[in-house]
Amino acid sequence: MKKATIHIEKDFKLAQTDSRLFSSFLEHLGRAIYTGIYEPDHPSADENGYRMDVLKLIQELNVDYVRYPGGNFLSGYDWKDGIGAKEDRPRRLDLAWKTIESNQFGIDEFYDWSQKSGTKIMGAVNMGTGTPKEAGQLVEYCNFPGGTYWSDLRIKNGHKDPMDIKLWCIGNEMDGDWQICHLDADDYGKKALETAKIIKWIDDSVELVVCGSATTLQKTYPEWDRKVMEYTYDQVDYLSLHRYYENEGNDLDFMASFVDMDRFITTLVGTADYVKALKRGKKDINFSFDEWNVWYQQKQNPHDWEEAPKLLEDQYSLLDALVFAGMGMTLVNHADRVKIACLAQLVNVIAPIFTEKGGRAMKQTIFYPFQYLSKYGRGMVLKPVVISPKTETRYGETPLLHTSVVYDEENQMVTAFCLNIDEEDMTLTIQLQSFGKLSMAEHVCLDGKDLYAKNTFDDPDCVAPRQIIPEKGIFNNCEVLLPKHSWNVLRFKVEK
Ligand code: AHR
Repeated sequence: MKKATIHIEKDFKLAQTDSRLFSSFLEHLGRAIYTGIYEPDHPSADENGYRMDVLKLIQELNVDYVRYPGGNFLSGYDWKDGIGAKEDRPRRLDLAWKTIESNQFGIDEFYDWSQKSGTKIMGAVNMGTGTPKEAGQLVEYCNFPGGTYWSDLRIKNGHKDPMDIKLWCIGNEMDGDWQICHLDADDYGKKALETAKIIKWIDDSVELVVCGSATTLQKTYPEWDRKVMEYTYDQVDYLSLHRYYENEGNDLDFMASFVDMDRFITTLVGTADYVKALKRGKKDINFSFDEWNVWYQQKQNPHDWEEAPKLLEDQYSLLDALVFAGMGMTLVNHADRVKIACLAQLVNVIAPIFTEKGGRAMKQTIFYPFQYLSKYGRGMVLKPVVISPKTETRYGETPLLHTSVVYDEENQMVTAFCLNIDEEDMTLTIQLQSFGKLSMAEHVCLDGKDLYAKNTFDDPDCVAPRQIIPEKGIFNNCEVLLPKHSWNVLRFKVEK
């Protein structure tokens, strides 16, 4: 059996995780909004049409911010279509996904939903067909107290108090040629800068996110990022990163996706620091990894010009959940610079929650790693020394053990998230001497006989975490078995 060791020192601190690291995303795409979170005829719907069965599951994930309304949809969206009396709202062609948008749900409905769900809004302004002026009007509508055309319209539409949306994305994936009114880095950089100035003149308490590379596979990566940060350094706070992985036929390569994601972030930290030096600046540009997940992009099934069709409804396997967990841990391991991260997306569209129209809602396999990371990933991220057996993958030398360690100082709990991507069980020695005496509180394990097993409405718990009886006694050094192809949450209580 292979052996690995992690040595954890309580003073080897990286950074506190920002609660916004546990955020998600809802786009006007397929059934994310319509029959996802909003379905007035559903038996569980409240008086506003929000599905309460779905809302309950979202609350189990303890999601912080929800990015809205896109995504590619954003670049053709006129937010003014989604306000006012519902019967007067126009039905429009959505060119991003070739669907019909009914506009029965807009910013006012999303604000009410966010209040009900206990989430916060990460807004977004259209940099495709939209202008800097229209972006400013949206921020005025949402955040300005009153006494102006757009703020008074919000009040007339039922929201007396400002929505106070603190976080705004300036466009979406503007480097992609698939984007409506895609721009090159110079044109986008200039437009984003002027938009940022307008937004901050209206509300200087907000933070802004500028588009970075849509993926590392873009030919313009990382030049796009350098240029955009150079244009906008003085006005913006975060660079947006997106990355999706899919199984291209080799399970081990797929499981090693965390290595690539780690390099993506490390490269752009270097690029951001280069721009800071060039500008003789004082502030760091941090990162908003506002789309991340497993996504089988090759398996899309276009339905032209339908309203709320089944689009991007990936059904996730145990293997997908392991890859997803590895990505989430990489985000935690960059908590010093990645301050925001959005699981893309939240319901039906490449999502942890899946619904039937008029029927049930269930948890997909990726629900669980997000739930546990969100529950136990809040705290001080430590930098352990990891000694792991290695293997070769498409990303070069890859450790078979991927680890994140978070110390909850308030509750004196240490959590080690451990992903074993090997096809054999692994013995893990955990050295915790610097904490004094500890006991093991919990060992949660996500694994299974069949890597391709999925949850379905008929078998919704086919893939779910199991509890392993934790080692008994008080110790400062322990040995744990990590089953083959497993994701583990190991929790230790520091004893007085
Ligand atoms: O999340 C699905 C799509 O992926 C988003 O609309 C887009 O931003 C990205 O390419």
